[in-house]
Amino acid sequence: LAPVYSLYLMRLEDIKKVLVIGAGTMGHGIAELFSMSGYQVYLSDISQDILDNALNKIRWSLEKLQEKGQLKEDINTILSRIKTIVGLNTIVSDADFAIEAIVERIDLKRQIFSKLDELLPPHAILATNTSSLSITKIAEATKRADKVVGMHFFNPPVLMQLVEVMKGEKTSDETAKLTYDLAKKLGKTPIMINKDIPGYVVNRILGEIISASCILIQRNLADYLTIDSIARYKLGFPMGVFELIDYTGIDVNYHVSKSLEEYGIKSPCVTLFEEKVKKNELGVKTGKGFYTYPVPGKYNKP
Ligand code: 3HC
Repeated sequence: LAPVYSLYLMRLEDIKKVLVIGAGTMGHGIAELFSMSGYQVYLSDISQDILDNALNKIRWSLEKLQEKGQLKEDINTILSRIKTIVGLNTIVSDADFAIEAIVERIDLKRQIFSKLDELLPPHAILATNTSSLSITKIAEATKRADKVVGMHFFNPPVLMQLVEVMKGEKTSDETAKLTYDLAKKLGKTPIMINKDIPGYVVNRILGEIISASCILIQRNLADYLTIDSIARYKLGFPMGVFELIDYTGIDVNYHVSKSLEEYGIKSPCVTLFEEKVKKNELGVKTGKGFYTYPVPGKYNKP
């Protein structure tokens, strides 16, 4: 007998194939993480160039982990579980769990979710890695709002321990619990957030720290290096505030700030970020942001 899936019958072990949409800053790391945990992964983006670049980054990261004895399998075995797909089509229609990690724009996310709803089987859970947008609004683009959930990883997903799991208004407890358990199976420490709040909890706190830092810069009260030294050597952060923005991408931070504005949360950093984005100074990925980096696109100290 073919398995009959309903939300209540879907168990963690039923998740075999995972679709990751977006192979950029976060998506490639999320795909790497799922593949390292034994899942078959479809990694989708709009061009083969982006996907090839993502595979290079995954290989680099796996080599780093291998050097430190942190891989249970060889690199090629892990990579062989990742199948790249240009666009979204029926090839992905056997995925049990999808996670979207595209740019932080609600119109584009809603388009993707509507498409996923058409393509994926009824039991599949549709997660978003959004860090600021409403899960409820994204879920409205589907006919399965009970199976739409937030699953927010942090950069780099393979190294950062925390995952926020966020419920939209209609997300079922079963979907949230399954996503929470899945994060645990990936070796992470998930936290459940029961209210659909913009920016989840981490980015609300981080946003305040970043905002305070931007105000100090704009008023000429401190420079980047001073703020970053205080963050590292007094507050105990692993990276300085502006170093972290460079690392996560100034464009990513810009879109997060812009989307939070729609919820009435104003960030004093928008102008500062916008100037950098216009000059394509996006941080580590372009080799220049608030600092310059010797090897653009690779994690390296400023
Ligand atoms: N995969 C594998 N290895 C990696 C890696 C990756 N993706 N990224 C870095 N590494 C490696 C480094 O290359 C380095 O290797 P080495 O020992 O051979 O030189 C090693 O990890 C350790 O790096 P470092 O000693 O240079 O630096 P750290 O000990 O500081 O660790 C870090 C690196 C884990 C990135 C640490 O700096 C850190 O935790 N930074 C803060 C990151 C953070 O806060 N992320 C969340 C941002 S917010 C977010 O993502 C939300 C979104 O919505 C915007």
